Amino acid sequence: MNDSLPGRTGRLGVGAVIRSTIRGDRDDPTTLYSYLGGGALLADDTDYLNLGYWQDGPGSYRAAGDALAAELARFAGFAERSARRAVKTIVDVGFGFGEQDVLWARRFGLTIVGLNVTPPQIARAAARVAGEGLADRIRYVRASGTAIPVASEAVDGVLALESAFHFRLRDDFFREAFRILKPGGVLATADIVALQPLAGWSPTDLVRRLLVGGGRRFWHIPAENLYGPEEYRARLEAAGFQGVAVRSIGSATFPGIRALLQAPATLTRFPRRERPIVRLAGEAFWLPYRAGWVDYVLVRAVKPKPVRAAKSRKAGERAPSPRSAPRPDGA
Ligand SMILES: C[S@@+](CC[C@H](N)C(=O)[O-])C[C@H]1O[C@@H](n2cnc3c(N)ncnc32)[C@H](O)[C@@H]1O
Repeated sequence: MNDSLPGRTGRLGVGAVIRSTIRGDRDDPTTLYSYLGGGALLADDTDYLNLGYWQDGPGSYRAAGDALAAELARFAGFAERSARRAVKTIVDVGFGFGEQDVLWARRFGLTIVGLNVTPPQIARAAARVAGEGLADRIRYVRASGTAIPVASEAVDGVLALESAFHFRLRDDFFREAFRILKPGGVLATADIVALQPLAGWSPTDLVRRLLVGGGRRFWHIPAENLYGPEEYRARLEAAGFQGVAVRSIGSATFPGIRALLQAPATLTRFPRRERPIVRLAGEAFWLPYRAGWVDYVLVRAVKPKPVRAAKSRKAGERAPSPRSAPRPDGA
């Protein structure tokens, strides 16, 4: 099915990886994702570009990608339901090739506005959505999560599936998400956090700086976005959010992607000279997690409802209006 969509190349390129890492902060992620090809990078039947959720032995990369998308939607508080009736509207920031949007529309009854900065991904995702007959439920816009072209207080949810670490800066995204959410709306991310600062000169510090710092440059992650779960929570609260919940799922993501990247069926998708890099990528995901330097988290935060409305509702409950108050004679 994916082959009928525009833009498939699925090539990594040794030179591209080196160029991407050297250029680091000078490029935006658009360049990186053009290196990573036009879809179906790691398996023929899916365009997912995330680590996957391998908790219950999904059996394929496609199933692991679906499992991660579903886990994020559930963590955000959306219920699985019939797709016949759209019940909530969300913005999906960093939608990649749009795989998760089809799942969220069908299984969670969501209407979706997707934002992405990588043009070939947008074209392929839009073709997928049209092919699935979901163009009335999923709309794509070329825009950044740091300047969202959506009216204030317009949506029920903002989801970012493995993309917020890219945003320059994640804080700007928090501010924009807060603005466009209705009171009571939820922001949820599947994200990678740094558990230790890139500092120090011991041999271990140097290995950490090399691996995490090198990964940061390759993936075009601003240095300002490297912080841990507590800081993540504090920054969300500073943006106005409440009820922040952070759940570590590193054990269900990093080992699975390492196994996938080292499986013969994955390696043979790449030209022989690129295979060592793909293997190395598996280690580069796994080692920093194993060493306790990074983690993968699901994060949820709620935009509070205005206090005045909540207070007057409470007051209304305590002192019902004369019309609705039961009459002393019980009539
Ligand atoms: C790791 S991929 C994840 C894609 C998809 N969510 C998935 O799970 O397959 C990160 C995505 O974030 C997008 N992205 C990076 N920076 C962005 C920004 N500032 N605003 C919107 N999207 C961005 C990239 O183009 C890419 O599609």
